[in-house]
This record gives sequence, C-alpha cells and structure tokens, in this order.
Amino acid sequence: MKGVVLAAGLGKNLYPLTLVLNKQLLTVYDKPMIYYPLNTLALAGIKDILLVCAPKDVHIFKRLLGNGSKFNIHLSYTVQKKPLGPVNAFAMAKKFIGDDACALMFGDNIFYGKGLVNKLKIAAKNATKHNKMTMFCYPVKDPKRFGIVQLDKHNNPIKIIEKPKKPKSNLCVTGLYFYPPHVTKHLPKIQLSKRNEYEITSLNNIYVANKQAEAILLTKGYTWFDAGTFESLLKSSQFVGSQRKRSN
Ligand code: G1P
Repeated sequence: MKGVVLAAGLGKNLYPLTLVLNKQLLTVYDKPMIYYPLNTLALAGIKDILLVCAPKDVHIFKRLLGNGSKFNIHLSYTVQKKPLGPVNAFAMAKKFIGDDACALMFGDNIFYGKGLVNKLKIAAKNATKHNKMTMFCYPVKDPKRFGIVQLDKHNNPIKIIEKPKKPKSNLCVTGLYFYPPHVTKHLPKIQLSKRNEYEITSLNNIYVANKQAEAILLTKGYTWFDAGTFESLLKSSQFVGSQRKRSN
C-alpha cells in the first residue's frame, strides 16, 4: 500500500506566517508539522510515501526529510506546479500509485488516540482486501467549516456535504482517506464545486454512492486537528506539549 501526503497548498488562513514559509514547516510544539502525518502513515504500516509540494518548497522538504530513512520510510517527492487544490495534487501521484491501494493525507492533519493504530490497520485492510475506501470522522463544534458526513443507523455513509449551510450531523470527514486500487481513474470525473474547487468530497462521494465507503468514527479518546488556522495551530501545539509532559 502507498501513501501520499499533500503539502502544496498556499496556507492562506495562516498569512502572513505562510507567505514565505510552507505551512507544513511550521512548528507544532517540538516538531515541524509535516512530521505528524508522516508518522501517522508509518503507524498504518505504510512505508512508501510520496510528498506533493510546491516547486519553491521541494528542496527544503528534501533537506529536512531526505529519503525518509531516518523515519523508517521510503520518501519520494513530486511537485504540483499550481495550487489547484487537493484533487489536482493527488493526480500528481498517479504514476507513483500505479495499481496499488493508497492512503491520502493532508499535511496539516494531526491525530492522537490510543486505539489509532488498530483503526489505521482496519482502514488499510479495507483498501487492500475489501476494495473499500475509508474516511476517518471526528465530531466538531463548527460543522459549517468542514466536509460533513451523514450516516445511516448502521454507521454507513449516506452522503458527504462540503461546508453545509444546514449541517445534518457534526461528524467532520478529516483529511485522511484510504482508497482501494485504481482511485486515480475517478479523478478526471470530478467537477468544479460551487466554491470553485476540485473537492476531495466529490471523490469520496463517488465511493459513498457505490456503497464502497466505510466511516471510522474517532469519538471518545481521540483528538484531531487540522492545524491550518491560528487557533488550531496553537491548540495542536498545546495538546502535543501536554501529551509529551504526560509521557515524560
Ligand atoms: C478540507 C476538505 C473537507 C475536510 C477538511 C478537513 O477542507 O475539503 O472536506 O473536512 O479539509 O481538514 P478545507 O481545508 O479545504 O477547508
């Protein structure tokens, strides 16, 4: 199974911090943000990881992370020439993915929780053995800001709505997705959304409509951040700091 981490966005919500420095290089407590998604994919047992970055940043990431050997992974790099959103960035990984199953992770997502490794392994198995995609869902207070999933009584996804005006649940679809083989064949079908983006939610809704999607709920005992706003960046640093102190 392969892994793709996206780190090519402009990080506009964090201007002026990200005017020069890539968001994924910012500090989360004691490490650059990019360390966290790489670690999450490694915990899922994924060793072969591609980092998609902007042309101006590729040499910096290479200096920081090299070929990944110090993290026990094999890391390669590709560039997204223009910041055209996550679906376009994911398309840059087509050759790398080949015929394999693949996990996709946004570079600003941070997950914590005791049972996380087991859940990651279930998602990997769904993709490699059961031809199913898996989304990780987390309850949020501000559902209008996210992709929000509606589930049936068996917790099967019915539909994901991106930035809903009237949210039907508070379950956010986080930026970690596990796809079965041939995910890239769906990418050309994705159309521009109302907010003028090729949305990851549109891709995920293809699997939902085909009844090929499973939702793993990260409720009690889990913490998730997309560290892409001032507030969540600060909170994620404080959270990681408190975990470090606890384990010392
Ligand atoms: C993106 C996705 C959204 C998801 C969120 C998680 O939103 O479009 O579905 O819930 O990441 O971080 P964006 O960061 O583009 O607002």
